[in-house]
Amino acid sequence: MSTQQAKIQELIDKRAEARLGGGEKAIDKQHAKGKYTARERIAQLLDEGSFEELDMFVTHRCTNFGQEKKHILGDGVVTGFGTIDGRLVYIFAQDFTVFGGSLSETMALKICKVMDLAMKMGAPCIGLNDSGGARIQEGINALAGYAEIFQRNIMASGVIPQISAILGPCAGGAVYSPALTDFTIMAKGISYMFLTGPSVVKTVTGEDVSQEQLGGASVHSTKSGVTHFAAENGEEALMIIRKLLSYIPQNNMEETPLQTCNDPIDRLEDALNEIIPESAKMSYDMYDVIGAVIDNGEFLEVQRDFAKNIIVGFARFNGQAVGIVANQPKVLAGVLDSNASRKAARFVRFCDAFNIPLVTFVDVPGFLPGTGQEYNGVILHGAKLLYAYGEATVPKVTVTLRKSYGGAHIVMSCKQLRGDINYAWPTSEIAVMGAEGAVGVLYAREAKEHSDPAAFKKEKEEEYRKLFANPYQAAKYGYIDDVIEPRNTRFRVIRALQMLATKKVSNPPKKHGNIPL
Ligand code: HXC
Repeated sequence: MSTQQAKIQELIDKRAEARLGGGEKAIDKQHAKGKYTARERIAQLLDEGSFEELDMFVTHRCTNFGQEKKHILGDGVVTGFGTIDGRLVYIFAQDFTVFGGSLSETMALKICKVMDLAMKMGAPCIGLNDSGGARIQEGINALAGYAEIFQRNIMASGVIPQISAILGPCAGGAVYSPALTDFTIMAKGISYMFLTGPSVVKTVTGEDVSQEQLGGASVHSTKSGVTHFAAENGEEALMIIRKLLSYIPQNNMEETPLQTCNDPIDRLEDALNEIIPESAKMSYDMYDVIGAVIDNGEFLEVQRDFAKNIIVGFARFNGQAVGIVANQPKVLAGVLDSNASRKAARFVRFCDAFNIPLVTFVDVPGFLPGTGQEYNGVILHGAKLLYAYGEATVPKVTVTLRKSYGGAHIVMSCKQLRGDINYAWPTSEIAVMGAEGAVGVLYAREAKEHSDPAAFKKEKEEEYRKLFANPYQAAKYGYIDDVIEPRNTRFRVIRALQMLATKKVSNPPKKHGNIPL
């Protein structure tokens, strides 16, 4: 063997060694837990053969606790770049087979390198998390490494899309990197996120709780709202990332990706002309409306199981990606509350940051009253949504289907919050409040003094409904641009989006606003 051949063989051997990560035994352990290795995950996620690995020969520099005798090529993370549907992405995948994927100083440097490249090139950065947290033997250097990553997450926010999949443990301060990114995806049964694990919880509060109960995918997708997607397993989590990216531009300077649309743009949906129930107290399913008007009924819902009284997600109109926000009359009558407000606000801000037009479907009776909500700061949470819509400069198309009352009317992308096109169905009721509430306030004294208070109230309510429970009061003042036939909604929204394609609006220069957090 020539010297050159020997050197090439050395490279091949080193690569093979690095690809084994923590070794066969650790890989078997990982598989036994129903988890894939970092490299297997990358292969599943990226276009076949597109992955280019970086820093395969990096090792840690720690000399404490005998670490100087344990070096694994690549250390606890696999990093590099590749493509998804032919579009460039940067990726880091923590390798649990190496020191439990725990973060060392050099691991942080590897992660920061791909984050910096992603920023320089204007391409999404994807993190696959599966880690025991800070590498305990490295002490403060591991903490510094986390802080370097967080700082980059913050700088990249609103510039390039950042997506985190949690495919194993993600505990302690480590949770803050995913929390700073745009979307977090967990997989049922294998993902855990918490600031302090069950044993610390037991010591501090006495509470007995399992990892799953404390920070499993179902908890974070239903109760806390920390995660945006709860996949059935790790593979599905990766497929969600691919799907999600198909709606998102590469960076904040690009337009949303356009796809060819084979769904007729002038498709009439007769069922929509009959979807609103006779009684205002009865509900219908907003998913039926969304499904009927978007391209091919394809909807990628975000935070599906959290604050179900509002629906947010991605869809396309004539091939153009949009963000949809819609009240859900089937859940809590579609009322806005703290969780619904913050869920929608974050989504609206994401869409605005990445030039994704917003289409809003309104059927909202108001904000949920009561101490529960007030003590929870509904004023601030509602203000978040108001702020998000008001600051958004992307095209904004709003369609009011039925109720649109009071403050909730304003918050849901009304004309004065720079709604570009505001349509209403003939079934709309756009007013300060509902008939019963209004009569209760306006005629309380007269009703008391009346010989038949119930009949008197009913008469007044009817009078109020006739006057206000329609779209024409708002249309009279130009607050509604047109009253449209429900079955023609798809066509009218597409026309509006086409007209708005060249929209240019900018907010006054400032360091940053002060959104009510
Ligand atoms: C060094 C670690 C490690 C860590 C795991 N390992 N976590 N090594 N630092 N943080 C090692 C284990 O020693 C083991 O090595 C291998 O990884 C696999 O771990 P296991 O415990 O065998 O795996 P499992 O049973 O699946 O348990 C996973 C786990 C557990 C729940 C994550 O390992 C664990 O509790 N780890 C410690 C978590 C933790 O407290 N981290 C520090 C949090 S503080 P061998 O050689 O036996 O294979 C923090 C601060 C961040 O992260 C602050 C950021 C701002």
